[in-house]
Amino acid sequence: MDRFQFHNPTKLIFGKDQLKALKQEIPRYGSKVLLVYGGGSIKRSGLYEKVTAILKEIGAEVTELAGVEPNPRLSTVHRGVDLCKANGIQLVLAVGGGSVLDCAKAIAVGAKYDGDMWDFAERKAAPKDALPLGTVLTMAATGSEMNGSSVISNEETKEKLGWGSKLAYPAFSILEPENTVSLPKDQTVYGLVDIMSHVFEHYFHKETNTLVQDGFCETVLRTVIETAPKLIADLENTEYRETILYCGTMALNGVLNMGLSGDWATHNIEHAVSAVYDIPHGGGLAILFPNWMKHVMHHDVARFKRMAINVFDVNPEGKSDREIAEEGVKALRSFWNSIGAPSRLADYKIDDSSLEFMADKAVRFGSFGNFAQLDKQDVLNIYRNSL
Ligand code: NZQ
Ligand code: ZN
Repeated sequence: MDRFQFHNPTKLIFGKDQLKALKQEIPRYGSKVLLVYGGGSIKRSGLYEKVTAILKEIGAEVTELAGVEPNPRLSTVHRGVDLCKANGIQLVLAVGGGSVLDCAKAIAVGAKYDGDMWDFAERKAAPKDALPLGTVLTMAATGSEMNGSSVISNEETKEKLGWGSKLAYPAFSILEPENTVSLPKDQTVYGLVDIMSHVFEHYFHKETNTLVQDGFCETVLRTVIETAPKLIADLENTEYRETILYCGTMALNGVLNMGLSGDWATHNIEHAVSAVYDIPHGGGLAILFPNWMKHVMHHDVARFKRMAINVFDVNPEGKSDREIAEEGVKALRSFWNSIGAPSRLADYKIDDSSLEFMADKAVRFGSFGNFAQLDKQDVLNIYRNSL
Protein backbone atom coordinates (compact mmCIF):
# COMPACT_ATOMS: atom_id res chain seq x y z
CA MET A 1 0.00 0.00 0.00
CA ASP A 2 1.00 3.62 -0.41
CA ARG A 3 1.81 5.96 2.44
CA PHE A 4 -1.33 7.72 3.61
CA GLN A 5 -2.83 10.11 6.11
CA PHE A 6 -6.43 9.64 7.11
CA HIS A 7 -8.48 12.44 8.58
CA ASN A 8 -12.23 12.52 8.23
CA PRO A 9 -13.65 15.43 10.24
CA THR A 10 -17.37 14.67 9.72
CA LYS A 11 -19.31 13.74 12.83
CA LEU A 12 -21.53 10.86 11.73
CA ILE A 13 -24.80 10.59 13.67
CA PHE A 14 -26.42 7.35 12.59
CA GLY A 15 -29.61 5.46 13.47
CA LYS A 16 -33.23 5.78 14.48
CA ASP A 17 -34.47 9.02 16.07
CA GLN A 18 -31.24 10.91 15.56
CA LEU A 19 -32.80 13.97 13.94
CA LYS A 20 -33.08 15.58 17.35
CA ALA A 21 -29.29 15.91 17.37
CA LEU A 22 -29.90 19.03 15.25
CA LYS A 23 -30.78 20.76 18.52
CA GLN A 24 -27.23 20.33 19.83
CA GLU A 25 -25.35 20.59 16.54
CA ILE A 26 -26.80 23.72 14.92
CA PRO A 27 -26.23 26.16 17.80
CA ARG A 28 -22.49 25.35 17.71
CA TYR A 29 -22.28 27.25 14.42
CA GLY A 30 -24.82 30.07 14.78
CA SER A 31 -28.48 30.82 14.35
CA LYS A 32 -28.65 31.98 10.73
CA VAL A 33 -29.29 28.85 8.68
CA LEU A 34 -29.66 28.30 4.94
CA LEU A 35 -31.95 25.27 4.57
CA VAL A 36 -31.22 23.59 1.23
CA TYR A 37 -33.46 20.88 -0.22
CA GLY A 38 -34.62 19.31 -3.47
CA GLY A 39 -37.78 19.09 -5.50
CA GLY A 40 -40.24 18.23 -2.76
CA SER A 41 -39.59 14.68 -1.53
CA ILE A 42 -38.88 15.95 1.98
CA LYS A 43 -42.23 17.72 2.05
CA ARG A 44 -44.05 14.58 0.93
CA SER A 45 -42.25 12.37 3.46
CA GLY A 46 -42.87 14.72 6.39
CA LEU A 47 -39.16 15.31 7.03
CA TYR A 48 -39.41 19.01 6.14
CA GLU A 49 -42.01 19.48 8.92
CA LYS A 50 -39.79 17.74 11.45
CA VAL A 51 -36.66 19.70 10.53
CA THR A 52 -38.38 23.08 10.47
CA ALA A 53 -40.07 22.34 13.81
CA ILE A 54 -36.65 21.77 15.37
CA LEU A 55 -35.23 24.89 13.72
CA LYS A 56 -38.12 26.88 15.15
CA GLU A 57 -37.67 25.34 18.60
CA ILE A 58 -34.01 26.41 18.76
CA GLY A 59 -34.78 29.88 17.47
CA ALA A 60 -32.89 29.58 14.18
CA GLU A 61 -33.41 32.28 11.56
CA VAL A 62 -34.05 30.24 8.45
CA THR A 63 -33.60 31.16 4.81
CA GLU A 64 -34.66 28.48 2.31
CA LEU A 65 -33.25 27.33 -0.99
CA ALA A 66 -35.69 24.82 -2.47
CA GLY A 67 -35.68 22.97 -5.79
CA VAL A 68 -32.11 21.70 -6.04
CA GLU A 69 -32.13 19.49 -9.13
CA PRO A 70 -30.83 15.92 -9.39
CA ASN A 71 -27.45 16.62 -11.06
CA PRO A 72 -27.39 20.01 -9.31
CA ARG A 73 -26.86 23.06 -11.46
CA LEU A 74 -24.37 25.87 -11.14
CA SER A 75 -27.16 28.46 -11.42
CA THR A 76 -28.77 26.97 -8.30
CA VAL A 77 -25.44 27.15 -6.49
CA HIS A 78 -25.25 30.84 -7.45
CA ARG A 79 -28.73 31.42 -6.00
CA GLY A 80 -27.63 29.81 -2.76
CA VAL A 81 -24.41 31.83 -2.58
CA ASP A 82 -26.39 35.04 -3.08
CA LEU A 83 -28.79 34.06 -0.28
CA CYS A 84 -25.86 33.37 2.07
CA LYS A 85 -24.24 36.70 1.33
CA ALA A 86 -27.49 38.68 1.58
CA ASN A 87 -28.61 37.06 4.84
CA GLY A 88 -25.35 36.66 6.77
CA ILE A 89 -25.79 32.87 6.82
CA GLN A 90 -23.71 31.03 9.45
CA LEU A 91 -24.55 27.39 8.65
CA VAL A 92 -25.73 25.62 5.50
CA LEU A 93 -28.10 22.75 6.32
CA ALA A 94 -28.69 20.29 3.45
CA VAL A 95 -31.67 17.92 3.71
CA GLY A 96 -31.87 15.46 0.83
CA GLY A 97 -29.87 13.17 -1.42
CA GLY A 98 -26.38 13.56 -2.84
CA SER A 99 -27.44 16.32 -5.23
CA VAL A 100 -28.71 18.51 -2.41
CA LEU A 101 -25.59 17.83 -0.36
CA ASP A 102 -23.26 18.54 -3.29
CA CYS A 103 -25.07 21.79 -4.07
CA ALA A 104 -24.84 22.80 -0.40
CA LYS A 105 -21.08 22.10 -0.39
CA ALA A 106 -20.64 24.34 -3.42
CA ILE A 107 -22.72 27.05 -1.75
CA ALA A 108 -20.69 26.75 1.47
CA VAL A 109 -17.39 27.42 -0.33
CA GLY A 110 -18.92 29.90 -2.79
CA ALA A 111 -20.26 32.03 0.05
CA LYS A 112 -16.70 32.66 1.24
CA TYR A 113 -15.23 33.37 -2.19
CA ASP A 114 -15.29 36.59 -4.19
CA GLY A 115 -15.18 34.90 -7.59
CA ASP A 116 -17.38 32.18 -9.12
CA MET A 117 -17.32 28.84 -7.34
CA TRP A 118 -16.97 27.19 -10.79
CA ASP A 119 -13.29 28.23 -10.58
CA PHE A 120 -12.87 25.37 -8.09
CA ALA A 121 -14.42 22.85 -10.47
CA GLU A 122 -12.17 24.07 -13.28
CA ARG A 123 -9.07 23.82 -11.03
CA LYS A 124 -8.41 27.54 -11.50
CA ALA A 125 -8.50 28.16 -7.74
CA ALA A 126 -8.86 26.22 -4.49
CA PRO A 127 -11.24 27.09 -1.66
CA LYS A 128 -9.59 28.88 1.26
CA ASP A 129 -12.62 29.21 3.50
CA ALA A 130 -16.14 27.82 3.78
CA LEU A 131 -19.30 28.13 5.80
CA PRO A 132 -19.91 25.11 8.02
CA LEU A 133 -22.27 22.52 6.57
CA GLY A 134 -24.63 20.07 8.26
CA THR A 135 -26.59 17.38 6.44
CA VAL A 136 -29.63 15.17 6.90
CA LEU A 137 -29.35 12.45 4.27
CA THR A 138 -32.41 10.92 2.60
CA MET A 139 -30.81 8.57 0.08
CA ALA A 140 -28.01 6.01 0.28
CA ALA A 141 -25.78 6.49 -2.75
CA THR A 142 -23.05 9.04 -3.09
CA GLY A 143 -21.21 9.05 0.23
CA SER A 144 -21.34 12.86 0.02
CA GLU A 145 -22.50 12.87 3.66
CA MET A 146 -19.01 11.98 4.84
CA ASN A 147 -16.60 13.18 2.18
CA GLY A 148 -15.25 16.44 0.80
CA SER A 149 -16.41 15.93 -2.79
CA SER A 150 -19.15 17.55 -4.80
CA VAL A 151 -20.26 17.29 -8.41
CA ILE A 152 -21.85 20.29 -10.14
CA SER A 153 -23.37 20.60 -13.61
CA ASN A 154 -22.79 23.73 -15.63
CA GLU A 155 -25.86 23.91 -17.84
CA GLU A 156 -24.30 26.53 -20.13
CA THR A 157 -21.18 24.57 -21.05
CA LYS A 158 -22.83 21.14 -20.66
CA GLU A 159 -20.12 20.05 -18.28
CA LYS A 160 -20.41 18.14 -15.05
CA LEU A 161 -17.31 18.43 -12.91
CA GLY A 162 -16.34 16.99 -9.57
CA TRP A 163 -14.28 19.05 -7.19
CA GLY A 164 -13.18 18.46 -3.63
CA SER A 165 -11.75 20.22 -0.63
CA LYS A 166 -11.01 19.48 3.00
CA LEU A 167 -13.27 22.47 3.67
CA ALA A 168 -16.24 20.75 2.03
CA TYR A 169 -16.60 17.89 4.52
CA PRO A 170 -19.86 18.24 6.41
CA ALA A 171 -19.31 19.21 10.05
CA PHE A 172 -22.04 16.72 10.92
CA SER A 173 -24.32 14.35 9.05
CA ILE A 174 -27.47 12.76 10.40
CA LEU A 175 -28.39 9.41 8.86
CA GLU A 176 -31.68 7.84 9.89
CA PRO A 177 -32.59 4.76 7.85
CA GLU A 178 -36.24 5.80 8.33
CA ASN A 179 -35.58 8.91 6.22
CA THR A 180 -34.68 6.72 3.25
CA VAL A 181 -37.74 4.42 3.17
CA SER A 182 -39.73 6.77 0.94
CA LEU A 183 -37.11 6.47 -1.81
CA PRO A 184 -38.80 4.91 -4.87
CA LYS A 185 -37.54 1.70 -6.45
CA ASP A 186 -35.72 3.27 -9.41
CA GLN A 187 -33.75 5.70 -7.24
CA THR A 188 -33.02 2.91 -4.76
CA VAL A 189 -31.50 0.89 -7.60
CA TYR A 190 -29.41 3.85 -8.80
CA GLY A 191 -28.12 4.25 -5.27
CA LEU A 192 -27.19 0.57 -5.01
CA VAL A 193 -25.30 0.74 -8.30
CA ASP A 194 -23.49 3.91 -7.23
CA ILE A 195 -22.43 2.36 -3.92
CA MET A 196 -21.05 -0.75 -5.65
CA SER A 197 -19.35 1.43 -8.24
CA HIS A 198 -17.53 3.42 -5.56
CA VAL A 199 -16.20 0.18 -4.14
CA PHE A 200 -15.12 -0.97 -7.62
CA GLU A 201 -13.31 2.33 -8.13
CA HIS A 202 -11.21 1.47 -5.05
CA TYR A 203 -10.94 -2.26 -5.74
CA PHE A 204 -9.33 -1.84 -9.17
CA HIS A 205 -6.03 -0.38 -8.05
CA LYS A 206 -2.38 -1.04 -8.70
CA GLU A 207 -0.96 -1.05 -5.18
CA THR A 208 0.33 -4.26 -3.62
CA ASN A 209 -0.04 -5.68 -0.10
CA THR A 210 -3.63 -4.50 0.32
CA LEU A 211 -5.16 -7.62 1.85
CA VAL A 212 -7.31 -5.77 4.38
CA GLN A 213 -8.48 -3.11 1.93
CA ASP A 214 -9.41 -5.71 -0.70
CA GLY A 215 -11.22 -7.79 1.89
CA PHE A 216 -13.15 -4.76 3.19
CA CYS A 217 -14.20 -3.92 -0.38
CA GLU A 218 -15.36 -7.47 -1.01
CA THR A 219 -17.37 -7.48 2.22
CA VAL A 220 -19.20 -4.30 1.25
CA LEU A 221 -19.87 -5.63 -2.26
CA ARG A 222 -21.13 -8.98 -0.99
CA THR A 223 -23.33 -7.23 1.56
CA VAL A 224 -24.93 -5.04 -1.10
CA ILE A 225 -25.43 -8.06 -3.38
CA GLU A 226 -27.06 -10.03 -0.57
CA THR A 227 -29.25 -7.18 0.67
CA ALA A 228 -30.29 -5.46 -2.58
CA PRO A 229 -32.85 -8.02 -3.81
CA LYS A 230 -34.47 -8.18 -0.38
CA LEU A 231 -34.66 -4.38 -0.22
CA ILE A 232 -36.09 -4.10 -3.73
CA ALA A 233 -38.83 -6.52 -2.70
CA ASP A 234 -39.50 -4.72 0.58
CA LEU A 235 -38.66 -1.03 0.17
CA GLU A 236 -39.93 0.01 3.58
CA ASN A 237 -37.81 -2.47 5.52
CA THR A 238 -35.70 -0.28 7.79
CA GLU A 239 -33.14 -3.02 8.52
CA TYR A 240 -32.27 -3.40 4.85
CA ARG A 241 -32.30 0.38 4.46
CA GLU A 242 -29.95 0.65 7.44
CA THR A 243 -27.49 -1.86 5.96
CA ILE A 244 -27.42 -0.09 2.62
CA LEU A 245 -27.17 3.36 4.22
CA TYR A 246 -24.11 2.22 6.15
CA CYS A 247 -22.59 0.63 3.02
CA GLY A 248 -23.11 3.87 1.11
CA THR A 249 -21.23 5.95 3.65
CA MET A 250 -18.42 3.43 4.05
CA ALA A 251 -18.02 3.13 0.28
CA LEU A 252 -16.81 6.69 -0.10
CA ASN A 253 -15.63 8.13 3.21
CA GLY A 254 -11.98 7.23 2.78
CA VAL A 255 -11.97 4.10 4.95
CA LEU A 256 -11.94 1.45 2.20
CA ASN A 257 -9.23 3.17 0.20
CA MET A 258 -6.60 3.96 2.80
CA GLY A 259 -3.28 3.52 1.02
CA LEU A 260 -4.90 3.04 -2.42
CA SER A 261 -5.44 5.44 -5.29
CA GLY A 262 -8.21 3.42 -6.97
CA ASP A 263 -9.15 4.06 -10.58
CA TRP A 264 -12.04 6.56 -11.02
CA ALA A 265 -12.13 6.50 -14.82
CA THR A 266 -15.71 5.20 -15.03
CA HIS A 267 -17.00 8.04 -12.88
CA ASN A 268 -15.37 10.52 -15.19
CA ILE A 269 -16.81 8.80 -18.26
CA GLU A 270 -20.26 8.74 -16.66
CA HIS A 271 -20.22 12.39 -15.62
CA ALA A 272 -19.70 13.36 -19.26
CA VAL A 273 -22.87 11.42 -20.15
CA SER A 274 -25.07 12.83 -17.38
CA ALA A 275 -23.77 16.32 -18.18
CA VAL A 276 -25.19 16.10 -21.69
CA TYR A 277 -28.26 13.90 -21.15
CA ASP A 278 -29.12 14.66 -17.50
CA ILE A 279 -29.56 10.95 -16.68
CA PRO A 280 -29.26 9.58 -13.13
CA HIS A 281 -25.63 8.98 -12.18
CA GLY A 282 -26.29 5.41 -10.96
CA GLY A 283 -28.10 4.56 -14.20
CA GLY A 284 -25.13 5.74 -16.24
CA LEU A 285 -22.72 3.74 -14.11
CA ALA A 286 -24.78 0.56 -14.51
CA ILE A 287 -24.43 0.90 -18.28
CA LEU A 288 -20.76 1.84 -18.38
CA PHE A 289 -18.97 -0.04 -15.58
CA PRO A 290 -19.15 -3.58 -17.04
CA ASN A 291 -17.95 -2.18 -20.39
CA TRP A 292 -15.04 -0.41 -18.70
CA MET A 293 -14.20 -3.74 -17.03
CA LYS A 294 -14.11 -5.58 -20.34
CA HIS A 295 -12.02 -2.82 -21.89
CA VAL A 296 -9.29 -2.84 -19.21
CA MET A 297 -9.35 -6.47 -18.05
CA HIS A 298 -6.09 -7.32 -19.83
CA HIS A 299 -4.21 -4.91 -17.52
CA ASP A 300 -4.64 -7.30 -14.58
CA VAL A 301 -6.69 -10.41 -15.25
CA ALA A 302 -5.85 -11.77 -11.79
CA ARG A 303 -7.72 -8.91 -10.12
CA PHE A 304 -10.85 -9.59 -12.16
CA LYS A 305 -10.51 -13.30 -11.40
CA ARG A 306 -10.37 -12.44 -7.71
CA MET A 307 -13.54 -10.36 -8.02
CA ALA A 308 -15.30 -13.17 -9.88
CA ILE A 309 -14.50 -15.74 -7.21
CA ASN A 310 -14.65 -13.67 -4.03
CA VAL A 311 -17.58 -11.40 -4.88
CA PHE A 312 -19.68 -13.38 -7.37
CA ASP A 313 -18.88 -16.96 -6.30
CA VAL A 314 -17.78 -17.97 -9.80
CA ASN A 315 -16.64 -21.59 -9.81
CA PRO A 316 -13.07 -21.57 -11.17
CA GLU A 317 -12.80 -25.29 -11.90
CA GLY A 318 -11.60 -26.17 -15.39
CA LYS A 319 -11.55 -22.55 -16.57
CA SER A 320 -8.73 -20.25 -17.63
CA ASP A 321 -8.08 -17.08 -15.63
CA ARG A 322 -9.55 -15.01 -18.44
CA GLU A 323 -12.72 -17.13 -18.57
CA ILE A 324 -13.19 -16.79 -14.82
CA ALA A 325 -12.61 -13.02 -15.01
CA GLU A 326 -15.12 -12.65 -17.85
CA GLU A 327 -17.69 -14.68 -15.96
CA GLY A 328 -17.33 -12.23 -13.06
CA VAL A 329 -18.18 -9.29 -15.29
CA LYS A 330 -21.17 -11.20 -16.71
CA ALA A 331 -22.31 -11.94 -13.17
CA LEU A 332 -22.16 -8.23 -12.35
CA ARG A 333 -24.23 -7.37 -15.42
CA SER A 334 -26.83 -10.05 -14.59
CA PHE A 335 -26.98 -8.87 -11.00
CA TRP A 336 -27.62 -5.28 -12.01
CA ASN A 337 -30.17 -6.43 -14.60
CA SER A 338 -31.90 -8.51 -11.94
CA ILE A 339 -32.51 -5.47 -9.72
CA GLY A 340 -33.80 -3.41 -12.66
CA ALA A 341 -30.78 -1.26 -13.57
CA PRO A 342 -30.36 -0.13 -17.18
CA SER A 343 -27.73 -1.82 -19.32
CA ARG A 344 -27.50 0.19 -22.56
CA LEU A 345 -27.32 3.88 -23.44
CA ALA A 346 -30.32 3.16 -25.65
CA ASP A 347 -32.32 2.58 -22.44
CA TYR A 348 -32.09 6.39 -22.06
CA LYS A 349 -32.59 6.94 -25.81
CA ILE A 350 -28.95 7.97 -26.17
CA ASP A 351 -27.57 7.33 -29.65
CA ASP A 352 -24.12 7.94 -31.13
CA SER A 353 -24.69 11.62 -31.97
CA SER A 354 -22.85 13.09 -28.96
CA LEU A 355 -20.16 10.47 -28.34
CA GLU A 356 -17.34 12.69 -29.63
CA PHE A 357 -18.54 15.65 -27.60
CA MET A 358 -18.78 13.55 -24.43
CA ALA A 359 -15.39 11.92 -25.00
CA ASP A 360 -13.81 15.37 -25.43
CA LYS A 361 -15.34 16.46 -22.13
CA ALA A 362 -14.12 13.31 -20.40
CA VAL A 363 -10.50 14.03 -21.42
CA ARG A 364 -10.76 17.71 -20.63
CA PHE A 365 -7.98 17.41 -18.04
CA GLY A 366 -6.02 14.86 -20.11
CA SER A 367 -5.76 11.05 -19.91
CA PHE A 368 -7.19 9.58 -16.74
CA GLY A 369 -7.64 6.41 -14.67
CA ASN A 370 -5.05 4.87 -12.37
CA PHE A 371 -5.68 1.14 -12.81
CA ALA A 372 -5.65 1.70 -16.57
CA GLN A 373 -4.97 5.03 -18.19
CA LEU A 374 -7.56 5.98 -20.79
CA ASP A 375 -7.39 8.43 -23.66
CA LYS A 376 -10.15 9.73 -25.89
CA GLN A 377 -10.12 6.67 -28.13
CA ASP A 378 -10.56 4.36 -25.13
CA VAL A 379 -13.51 6.44 -23.96
CA LEU A 380 -15.10 6.33 -27.40
CA ASN A 381 -14.71 2.55 -27.50
CA ILE A 382 -16.39 2.19 -24.11
CA TYR A 383 -19.25 4.49 -25.20
CA ARG A 384 -19.69 2.59 -28.48
CA ASN A 385 -19.79 -0.74 -26.66
CA SER A 386 -22.44 0.74 -24.37
CA LEU A 387 -24.85 1.92 -27.09
O1 NZQ B 1 -35.24 16.38 -5.23
P1 NZQ B 1 -36.08 15.54 -4.34
O2 NZQ B 1 -37.51 15.88 -4.37
O3 NZQ B 1 -35.55 15.50 -2.92
O4 NZQ B 1 -36.04 14.03 -4.92
C1 NZQ B 1 -34.86 13.27 -5.06
C2 NZQ B 1 -34.39 13.19 -6.51
O5 NZQ B 1 -35.46 13.32 -7.40
C3 NZQ B 1 -35.20 11.84 -4.76
N1 NZQ B 1 -35.08 11.49 -3.34
C4 NZQ B 1 -33.99 11.59 -2.54
N2 NZQ B 1 -34.28 11.11 -1.32
C5 NZQ B 1 -35.58 10.71 -1.35
C6 NZQ B 1 -36.10 10.97 -2.62
N3 NZQ B 1 -37.38 10.66 -2.99
C7 NZQ B 1 -38.15 10.12 -2.05
N4 NZQ B 1 -37.72 9.82 -0.80
C8 NZQ B 1 -36.46 10.09 -0.42
N5 NZQ B 1 -36.04 9.74 0.82
O6 NZQ B 1 -34.25 11.07 -5.48
C9 NZQ B 1 -33.88 11.77 -6.64
C10 NZQ B 1 -32.38 11.67 -6.83
O7 NZQ B 1 -31.72 12.37 -5.79
P2 NZQ B 1 -30.18 12.77 -5.96
O8 NZQ B 1 -29.80 13.54 -4.74
O9 NZQ B 1 -29.95 13.38 -7.29
O10 NZQ B 1 -29.46 11.33 -5.95
P3 NZQ B 1 -28.03 10.90 -5.50
O11 NZQ B 1 -27.93 10.84 -4.03
O12 NZQ B 1 -27.76 9.67 -6.25
O13 NZQ B 1 -27.05 12.07 -6.00
C11 NZQ B 1 -26.62 12.11 -7.33
C12 NZQ B 1 -25.63 13.23 -7.56
O14 NZQ B 1 -24.44 13.04 -6.75
C13 NZQ B 1 -23.28 13.04 -7.59
C14 NZQ B 1 -23.84 12.51 -8.89
O15 NZQ B 1 -23.00 12.75 -9.98
C15 NZQ B 1 -25.16 13.25 -8.99
O16 NZQ B 1 -24.95 14.57 -9.44
N6 NZQ B 1 -22.21 12.30 -6.95
C16 NZQ B 1 -21.63 12.84 -5.85
C17 NZQ B 1 -20.57 12.25 -5.21
C18 NZQ B 1 -19.95 12.85 -4.01
N7 NZQ B 1 -20.35 14.02 -3.60
O17 NZQ B 1 -19.05 12.26 -3.41
C19 NZQ B 1 -19.99 11.00 -5.69
C20 NZQ B 1 -20.86 10.26 -6.63
O18 NZQ B 1 -20.05 9.40 -7.38
C21 NZQ B 1 -21.67 11.11 -7.56
O19 NZQ B 1 -20.95 11.48 -8.70
ZN1 ZN C 1 -20.76 7.65 -7.91
